This record gives sequence, C-alpha cells and structure tokens, in this order.
Amino acid sequence: MNNFIYNVPTKIYFGTDAVNNLGDEIKNYGKKVLLCYGGGSIKKMGLYDTVLSQLENAGMAVFELSGIEPNPRVDSVREGARLCKEHNIDVLLAVGGGSTLDATKWIAAAACVDHDAWDFFSAWAPVEKALPVLTVLTLSATGSEMNCGGVISNMDTKDKIGRLAKPLLPKASFLDPTLTYSVSKYQTACGCADIMSHILEVYFAPQQDLYMLDCFMEGLMKTVIKYAPIALEHPQDYDARANLMWTSSWAINGFITGSKQHEWSCHPMEHELSAIYDITHGLGLAILTPRFLKYCLSEENAHKYVQFGINVFDIDKTLPKMEIANKAIDMLSDFFFNTLGLDDTFTKVGIKQQDFKVMAQKACEGDIINGFVKLSANDIEKIFYMCL
Ligand code: NZQ
Ligand code: ZN
Repeated sequence: MNNFIYNVPTKIYFGTDAVNNLGDEIKNYGKKVLLCYGGGSIKKMGLYDTVLSQLENAGMAVFELSGIEPNPRVDSVREGARLCKEHNIDVLLAVGGGSTLDATKWIAAAACVDHDAWDFFSAWAPVEKALPVLTVLTLSATGSEMNCGGVISNMDTKDKIGRLAKPLLPKASFLDPTLTYSVSKYQTACGCADIMSHILEVYFAPQQDLYMLDCFMEGLMKTVIKYAPIALEHPQDYDARANLMWTSSWAINGFITGSKQHEWSCHPMEHELSAIYDITHGLGLAILTPRFLKYCLSEENAHKYVQFGINVFDIDKTLPKMEIANKAIDMLSDFFFNTLGLDDTFTKVGIKQQDFKVMAQKACEGDIINGFVKLSANDIEKIFYMCL
C-alpha cells in the first residue's frame, strides 16, 4: 500500500440538541452570517426558529438565501456569492440536506473570486480560498457535512459536476439525529442507497488496501442494512437515525479511502442521469450499482464479491465462488428494491435509451473510467441497457 495523509479537522457536535452550541461556535468566525437553506422543510420542522434564535443571541447579523434546489443549481451559487459580496459576509451557515450544504460550500468559494461560479467546473478555476462554512445537517446521505466536496448542476448546459477543494471543508457541523425524523420514506431510502454506494465505490477497487479498512467498510454497510428498515418503519427511532447519520459522515470523509488512488464508477454515471432527468441521486445509484457489479464480475475479481457476500450478507461460505458472488449482487438488489422500496429500472423512472450514448460519453469524459474495472463509453452504455 502507499502512504497517505488523513486530515479532516471538521468539528462535530453530535446528538440531541447539538444545535444549542451553534451560537457559541459561529461567533468565532465573525459577525455577519449568510444563512442558506432549501425549499422550506427547516421552517416546517421548527429548526429555522431555533437556528435564528441561536444566531441572534450570539449577536450575529443574519442575511438569508432560501430556495436552494435538490441537485443545486449554479444560479443559486451565483446569487449566494452576490449576497456575500454585497453584505461583506464573514461566515456561511448551511441548514439542510446535501444540496444545501454543497451549494453553500461553492458560494463560500465564489464569494472570494471575481469570475463566474461556473468557471470552477467548466474551466477548473483554482479554489485558493473560501469563506468559512458551518453546517446543520437534516438528511443523512451525502457526507457533505464532513468532506470538502460539492456537486453543482447547470441546467443550461445539462451538466452536473462534483469537485473536491480543501478550502470548502466545513469548520464545524451540527449533527442531531432528531432533525432527520421528518425525512420522508423516499428520501430516507435514497439517502441509505447513497451511503451504501459511497462505501461500495471504495470497497470494490482495483487496489487492495488495509484489511482494517475493509472491515471498517463492512461494518458501515452492515449498519446501513440493519438500521435503514428500522428508520423506514419507525422514523423517530433515535438509534436508527443516529447510526445512519454518523455512518453517512464516515462513508465519505476520506477515512475509508486510505491510500487507494482510483476513480469512482457509479457516481459519474449517476450524475449524468441527474443532469438530464433531475432524478434523486440515491435512486439513480440504486438502479445502477447492482448492474455495474454484475457487468464487472469475472473469475479474476470474484474473490472481492465473495468477501462482500460472506462478510456483509452472511452468505454460506461453502458455496461455489461464482454462486456466492451472484448471490451477493442479488442480495444487494433485494436491499435496494425490496427493503428500501426504490424503483428498480430506468423505465420506471422515465430514463430513455435515446440519451444513453451522450450520457455514457460524458460519464467517462470521452475516455475511460479508471475504477474497479476500466469502463469505456461502450461499456457504460451496456450497463445503461442492463438498467432498462
Ligand atoms: O429543500 P428542502 O425543503 O430542505 O427539502 C429537502 C429536499 O426536498 C428534503 N429534506 C431535507 N431534510 C429534510 C427534508 N425534508 C423533511 N425533513 C428533513 N429533515 O429532502 C429533499 C432532498 O434534499 P437534498 O439536500 O437534495 O438531499 P441529499 O442530502 O441527498 O443531497 C443530494 C445532493 O448531494 C449531492 C448529490 O449529487 C445531490 O446533488 N452529493 C454530494 C456529495 C458530497 N458533497 O460529498 C456526494 C454525494 O455523492 C452526492 O453526489
Ligand atoms: Zn453519492
């Protein structure tokens, strides 16, 4: 294995009423805050009032950007950056799911430059600094609360592009599992599929890494498999919501990656689905992942599927290798489509084959995805056909 650096200094306040620490924490970053949120769920659940009183008691001047969309648009980032510049904002506070967090992070970067926000994605403009970002998470899924990534959509160019940049890492995140009690069954299911995918993208890699990290990933996946059905059945089960929340953070905060240098596969494919059809990220991943695994399975790499099947799904280890591998994929499908209740085909969610060629080309940027198995545009198209 290679050497690596792990440095994720986001301060986490975890547990019931974690938000009560917001006022004291945010004071460290200045006086003027831009409060960013989505379509109104935080008002319905009473969180908006709690946050506002924390900010006011801390003596902060509060400015607001509301209406950040799921699959957040670059227009929201532009508007946020404009507000930051106009009011000399010191610090940003994102309250919501991954979309709100991602948009807020890119607002923080766009506020520090003169060029258009989309240049960060179309021209890979450097991200040298960003205003400090704090987050209050309301949906367990993306891990945005503890990583330096953010995914932004441009409806004009039909692009959805993710990018990591160190200055975007949140300074502090407030993780109260009770804030996810109101998340719908559908969004809970999509969030769980997203968490599973973040782990699988790293677990199935061409390069082996520390045994310890594989065990850790298997533990995270077993946690999702155990607690997702409980959260769906009993949305106010604290243990279920808490386990899912902390798992979402650790699935994609860089820890499980260790020293592996490789590309993700299902995420770039899914981003093309969302870019054109605006579907929920976790739903697209759930449909793609079992097909991707089926497409990639070979005698050469079956041992990894066997490890996954035995350690995560408790499949009988005395069965023949290929039988275990195929059963593991079937059990993953069963989890996504029966346990989580997500739609299992592109046809059901309205994705049409007329777009496959373009989406496949864009997913691999006209080259290859250099992941678990190298995928050309042709391979990706075949995986899309398997999803119909
Ligand atoms: O907009 P509001 O009214 O807040 O409603 C949201 C939205 O409609 C609602 N919601 C959130 N918390 C709620 C709630 N409803 C009731 N009660 C609550 N407590 O849920 C809907 C979906 O929210 P969204 O933020 O879009 O979901 P999610 O957290 O899954 O974020 C998805 C976005 O994150 C990106 C995805 O591509 C997608 O754009 N990702 C970001 C990553 C990252 N930063 O590292 C990695 C991921 O792989 C992913 O690509
Ligand atoms: Zn994801």
